[in-house]
Amino acid sequence: MSGRRICFISSEIAPYAKTGGLADVSGALPRYVGQAGNDIRVFMPLYSTIDVSNGRFHRVDFLRNLTIDFGGDAVTFDVVTTKLHDSDVDLYLVDCPRLYHRGTVYTDHEDEYLRFALLSRAAIECCQHMGWSPDVFHCNDWQTALVPLYLKTVYKWDELFERSRTVLTIHNIAYQGVFSSKAIEHLGLGNYREMFSAEDLRDGIVNFMKTGIFYADLLTTVSVTYAREIQTPEFGSGLQDFLRWRGNALHGIVNGVDYNEWSPECDVWIPYPYSAEELSWKEENKKYLLGRINLTYDSDAPLLGIVSRLTGQKGFDLFFDILRPFLAATNVRLAVLGSGEPRYEDFFTGLQHDFHGRVCFYRGFQNELAHLIEAGSDIFLMPSRFEPCGLNQIYSLRYGTVPVVRRTGGLADTVQQFDTATGEGTGFVFDHFTPDGLFWGMRSATELWHNKPAWERLMLNGMAKNYSWEVQVMQYLALYDGLAG
Ligand code: ADP
Ligand code: GLC
Repeated sequence: MSGRRICFISSEIAPYAKTGGLADVSGALPRYVGQAGNDIRVFMPLYSTIDVSNGRFHRVDFLRNLTIDFGGDAVTFDVVTTKLHDSDVDLYLVDCPRLYHRGTVYTDHEDEYLRFALLSRAAIECCQHMGWSPDVFHCNDWQTALVPLYLKTVYKWDELFERSRTVLTIHNIAYQGVFSSKAIEHLGLGNYREMFSAEDLRDGIVNFMKTGIFYADLLTTVSVTYAREIQTPEFGSGLQDFLRWRGNALHGIVNGVDYNEWSPECDVWIPYPYSAEELSWKEENKKYLLGRINLTYDSDAPLLGIVSRLTGQKGFDLFFDILRPFLAATNVRLAVLGSGEPRYEDFFTGLQHDFHGRVCFYRGFQNELAHLIEAGSDIFLMPSRFEPCGLNQIYSLRYGTVPVVRRTGGLADTVQQFDTATGEGTGFVFDHFTPDGLFWGMRSATELWHNKPAWERLMLNGMAKNYSWEVQVMQYLALYDGLAG
């Protein structure tokens, strides 16, 4: 399971650029693949938000001023390199100000497809310039899902890639990269129109994710349950038939966690490190957090935490009717960190106003606060409508912060309902996506919190779970091996 050459391509990688869990995975998995003795090289865009002035980034001489022809549009770029955070792995950042100096990682600009087609083709062409022949191209989500097609068409002539195989990891099937089929010319794929779905062409669209699902040698997604779910109409976002058709090539692998980054013993963002043996320090983090966000401490009131993109996926609709009465009737504190759709932001802003000193809504993206909420909260709420894997509930387990989740995707695979009779289980899991289900979860959790021995048992059960990448990486290595072999 070593000695492989892996080209890993992702649109976001922590700590350089992050909008969600894809960045956490892309920042950690390659490190573990590298540690296992493989030559893995990682590619991402050089967004203008990435500071390359600290002396650790270098322009690669033989990868300067490269040009790729996109259907007559010549796109020029340089490549900057560094070591992937905390590792020996080479990270290559594609420097193309025309496409990546936009202020945000993703945009709704007309040329969005070109931004990520460049990333895909730049990774392939850098391999050519390096004379480096990957055993596997590992692509992530729609942004890099055209790599398999590019290898079968535009780069088919190159013997360097004769034995290369492709893996596409689906982190979220709800985002597919759908554009007007006019883009095909501009992608440099005008001569290969027949390789796209005929149905899509009739509808005047091109779908990056669907194309990747067609042409990748292997597909993975980020939990076992989600791998099953996306083959059904409820979760497949229209691609369920294609995923069923490729069912034999589709593998569910639950994401790992980087416990160097997300562990209460060594978390650099929290003031009072703690562990299963020294649990009492958790309460100090809670007091510190409450002080930071202007909520009052009450030793009788559990703190509920939320850290999330505020989108429909995350189940916030369930809160609309029940959270206000719940807060009115129950002595709890609530800390919410996130940003996204205005209807959710408005809802939490209203709650903060009406429950002054008891509810805090921090609108924005703030890594330090995310860590403080994991450490300082008693209960973590994640009632997702669907959840490919979800990382925050796994982080919560390690911090002794008991998750309340809906039984879907990775949440179903990583949190088990607590049973007071046997003392087994790690959280509260409700089945149906209804306000009643969530209400039951919140009420059960806050009630049990007052039963200190049972609660401590529940916390320790979660803290003992191990979702380390050290374990999870083995499944990827086995897949790479199967492919390359
Ligand atoms: P998703 O990728 O669907 O957003 P995950 O649970 O897989 O969900 O990962 C979310 C990641 O983004 C976690 O590391 C979480 O801590 C982080 N995150 C989400 N929202 C925020 C925020 N507002 N501020 C800081 N970190 C956030
Ligand atoms: C996506 C999913 C999330 C998953 C993450 C990393 O953003 O929404 O569930 O944990 O990717 O794989």
